[in-house]
Amino acid sequence: MSLDLQLSGKTAIVTGGSAGIGLATAKALYTEGVNVVIAARNQEKLEKAVADIQSLPTPGAKVISVSADLTQAESIDRVVETTLAQFGQIDILINNAGSARAGSFLELGDDAFLDAWNLKLLGYIRFVRAVVPHQKNRRDGRIVNIIGGAGRTPRPSFLPGGTTNAALLNFTRGISEELAQHNIRINAISPGLTGTECAERLAEQNAQIRGVSVEEIKAESLKAIPLGKIVKPEEIAALALFLVSDLASSITGAEILVDGGNTPGV
Ligand SMILES: NC(=O)c1ccc[n+]([C@@H]2O[C@H](COP(=O)([O-])OP(=O)(O)OC[C@H]3O[C@@H](n4cnc5c(N)ncnc54)[C@H](OP(=O)(O)O)[C@@H]3O)[C@@H](O)[C@H]2O)c1
Repeated sequence: MSLDLQLSGKTAIVTGGSAGIGLATAKALYTEGVNVVIAARNQEKLEKAVADIQSLPTPGAKVISVSADLTQAESIDRVVETTLAQFGQIDILINNAGSARAGSFLELGDDAFLDAWNLKLLGYIRFVRAVVPHQKNRRDGRIVNIIGGAGRTPRPSFLPGGTTNAALLNFTRGISEELAQHNIRINAISPGLTGTECAERLAEQNAQIRGVSVEEIKAESLKAIPLGKIVKPEEIAALALFLVSDLASSITGAEILVDGGNTPGV
């Protein structure tokens, strides 16, 4: 059996598609022939990402970018409207834009929690609300929420991110039954430590909290991963491709951990 994903001609929105996991996923979709809209804030990074993606081979896909702060509801509507105006359909949504600060609980104010919840929790929920009416009409939709291991395995220094991720697991599972009747599948991928700028930032913040070097933090994190390596963004992208393809047509409401075996609980 060959793994023919049959995604060519579809259209995807990838939030946070200018860097890290989002960029790797946008590239993977594009090379499968999927038209891709990447959304993030920084215009320069977006332009560079579009050029990077366009340098890859594709059976005829296009890629465009929309500069948008996804903490704002209007920006989310604008991304969806631009995609429909440009490509006429939204088959795939990769909810991925997220950023949370590490910090010890007593030193974090409401803003640290509100920033994380606004961008990732509310941002993912708003995007689902915005694309689902369109997908319902077409009786086809494939949504992947990039969540994160801290949803199940909370850490005291990462509570804004952990609470966001736990709520998103609840949301993903909770909405999947309602969407299933319209042939819309929604699944979660929870990466463990993945080699991106975000992981670098968190290592620096954790080093500061603990008063140790970034190298020590990194060595400690690596030691805790049974497979002994950090995840590559391309590994998350490969799983996202599978989940949005018809090969996964019976999978919805699932969470798949990609963390080198780093999650101790069930
Ligand atoms: N890396 C890990 O170890 C890891 C582990 C578990 C879960 N995750 C999750 O995986 C997802 C991707 O993480 P990553 O490591 O790939 O992050 P990253 O390398 O920092 O990239 C984040 C992307 O999101 C965009 N973004 C950030 N704030 C935004 C905003 N307000 N509006 C629109 N776009 C925004 C960034 O572009 P701009 O800054 O230009 O807006 C960038 O494109 C996140 O949800 C993260 O929580 C990552």
